[in-house]
Amino acid sequence: MSEVRIHNLSISLDGFATGEPQTLEAPFGHAGERLHGWMFATRSWHGAGGSEGADHAFAARNDHGIGAEIMGANKFGPPGWQDDPDWKGWWGPNPPFHTPTFVLTHRPRPSVEMEGGTTYHFLDATPSEVLGQARAAANGRDVRIGGGATVVRDFVAAGLVDHMHLVQVPIVLGRGVRVWDGLEALEERYDIEATSTPSGVTHLTFTAKQRSDQPDEG
Ligand SMILES: NC(=O)c1ccc[n+]([C@@H]2O[C@H](COP(=O)([O-])OP(=O)(O)OC[C@H]3O[C@@H](n4cnc5c(N)ncnc54)[C@H](OP(=O)(O)O)[C@@H]3O)[C@@H](O)[C@H]2O)c1
Repeated sequence: MSEVRIHNLSISLDGFATGEPQTLEAPFGHAGERLHGWMFATRSWHGAGGSEGADHAFAARNDHGIGAEIMGANKFGPPGWQDDPDWKGWWGPNPPFHTPTFVLTHRPRPSVEMEGGTTYHFLDATPSEVLGQARAAANGRDVRIGGGATVVRDFVAAGLVDHMHLVQVPIVLGRGVRVWDGLEALEERYDIEATSTPSGVTHLTFTAKQRSDQPDEG
């Protein structure tokens, strides 16, 4: 059965998944590239010459078995992208998703087919509604929640996430968008493991004790 997964969501010690303000020039605001330095060094990102160790092993899980992606409006573009009819995401004509990709926005627009198998669909819908569409589009494969912090938090709060991989980076951002706000006692719903790697980051994996497609009926 298809699972709902999050991978490589990088957070600061104080729980921010992005800095501020987000702009066209600075997609992560004042965080710059500090949240993802660990990932850029791996072979899965950098290609030949990148590191092959534990960070690579975690990072590489991102794409396996994924049949659809869900993301928020602020991951898709900088503030105001909805006013630009030509904006098609940060990632150019051949985005790295290669699947149907559902963008949650209060200002939807017609779907856009990109090169390489990515089609953007824009939806104003609840997390469970968009997940229903993404699951159907994924055709038996898993659905990835790609971020940002707000959408991840909403899907976790709704009990819709089976597996979550966060990467805690030893920096303190002080401001931005926090992933944890409003979430409580996740340790009761998830088995949590922490693995520190030589690069200095800590990989946190959350595995649901009860699957998202088997709601508790008691
Ligand atoms: N640290 C990481 O690993 C990582 C990973 C991915 C992204 N990011 C960063 O995270 C930042 C974005 O995160 P974010 O928390 O600001 O925003 P986000 O989660 O990307 O998007 C939130 C926005 O999506 C729209 N939205 C969310 N739920 C909706 C619903 N149910 N129906 C309709 N629209 C809905 C709303 O936008 P509108 O009301 O404007 O339509 C909402 O303000 C970016 O800076 C990105 O670069 C970080």
